[in-house]
Amino acid sequence: MESLLDSKTQTPGPARRKLFVKSYGCQMNVYDAARMADVLAPEGFSETNVIEDADLVILNTCHIRERASEKIFSELGKVRLVKDARAKAGLTTKIAVAGCVAQAEGAEILRRQKSVDIVVGPQSYHRLPDLLHRAENGAKIVDTEFPAEDKFDHLPAPSRGKIQARGISAFVTVQEGCDKFCAFCVVPFTRGAEVSRPITKILDEAEALADAGVREITLLGQNVNAFHGLGPDGKIWPLARLIRRLAEINGIARLRYMTSHPNDMDDDLICAHGDCAALMPFLHLPVQSGSDTVLDAMNRKHTHADYRAVIDKVRRARPDIALSSDFIVGFPGESEADFEATLDLVRDINFASAYSFKYSSRPGTSGAAFGGQIDESVKQERLLRLQELLDAQRQSFNRAAIGTRMDVLIEKRGRNAGQIAGKSRWLQPVQIDAPDELIGRVISVEITAVSTNSLFGALPRAHAEGHPQEMLA
Ligand code: 5AD
Ligand code: SF4
Repeated sequence: MESLLDSKTQTPGPARRKLFVKSYGCQMNVYDAARMADVLAPEGFSETNVIEDADLVILNTCHIRERASEKIFSELGKVRLVKDARAKAGLTTKIAVAGCVAQAEGAEILRRQKSVDIVVGPQSYHRLPDLLHRAENGAKIVDTEFPAEDKFDHLPAPSRGKIQARGISAFVTVQEGCDKFCAFCVVPFTRGAEVSRPITKILDEAEALADAGVREITLLGQNVNAFHGLGPDGKIWPLARLIRRLAEINGIARLRYMTSHPNDMDDDLICAHGDCAALMPFLHLPVQSGSDTVLDAMNRKHTHADYRAVIDKVRRARPDIALSSDFIVGFPGESEADFEATLDLVRDINFASAYSFKYSSRPGTSGAAFGGQIDESVKQERLLRLQELLDAQRQSFNRAAIGTRMDVLIEKRGRNAGQIAGKSRWLQPVQIDAPDELIGRVISVEITAVSTNSLFGALPRAHAEGHPQEMLA
């Protein structure tokens, strides 16, 4: 490793270098990006958001849909230009492709884009320092093994300063991978088999986050409600037990989890929605389609009635719960009647928010070989119809907040001077005219207006007159 004398402290330290990481796709990639920065910090790397300053550029990629992965290759073209410009100025730049495109495409990336130095899959981030040293010696590297060791055992605990920089709401990966093999999905291939982290590791991380000022933790996993981590008592803990234990941590006011599968919504977890105050009344539960024929072809292993039954149970346990989902339109074989069954399900359930996508065929998945692929124009038309309905539901959910008072966790400064921004219990962004010192607090806010994506609120008069409320945590 290069070693320079630090001019201020006169102590030897690693060379100071800049790291630029750009994440695409899901929240797990955002979490992974932070852990990559942590593992590279002892190598002298600090993060920059100016790519031209970066000695190491990492694109943390998403493979879930075709467009997401194609975007990476056009992005790599732009990064190459930066690398070339820096080379003219005598500066070296290493380029790494991480994430699910790296896992899926491997060496193909090096063939398609010669300026790439490292291709590293999601299970190998703990090896980045070593991969980088080899790249600095001129090697081109592909590391997409699913190693026997657990990467979490090798990633450093996030440092206090780093955590502070990351704010009030944090993600913690508790489970990774998926064994379900839905016919459209690359996740079982890119993230591998389902693995749960041991409870003590998760608690240590959550406690460190709470100590550093984090007030809300979102537990992440591709199949997070299938979580089954080894507990300190030697027993396997399901997600509900983990949530109840995390709720005991001092300072943690709010807990969330994503993403879930309907078949893993067990009674204990549903119960926790009713009796665990820290667990927020919001559930993202993808259904993908409202047609049993399509659900069967997708290998979802549940019917639309199963999904509705789970939702009924959750609503009985927690009547104010807001629901969110994922939908795919134009899966091979989807008829107009199948699509209308999806619209019926949406109308019946009423979602507060949702993500909807046109089916895109992914290499290696079973769906890629199916007959009955749907025309792009039909997919587009169905997507618009579905999104119109989902948008209307989201807007009416948001509009219903006007005139109510709700708890908001304040996360940061707002868009305009004198504003702060936070989230409602139902994950709605809220902008409030109020002072910065409320950041990190849960405060009661009167909602006065809504825009397409945000709520706007004011402090209730008692608060505005200088009677600050207690932080709920
Ligand atoms: N095409 C379209 N959407 C997809 N998703 C996953 N794979 C595909 C695909 N091949 C969607 C699903 C999933 C979300 C994360 O992305 O709705 O729940
Ligand atoms: Fe993909 Fe989710 Fe199905 Fe697993 S359960 S294969 S992650 S869609």
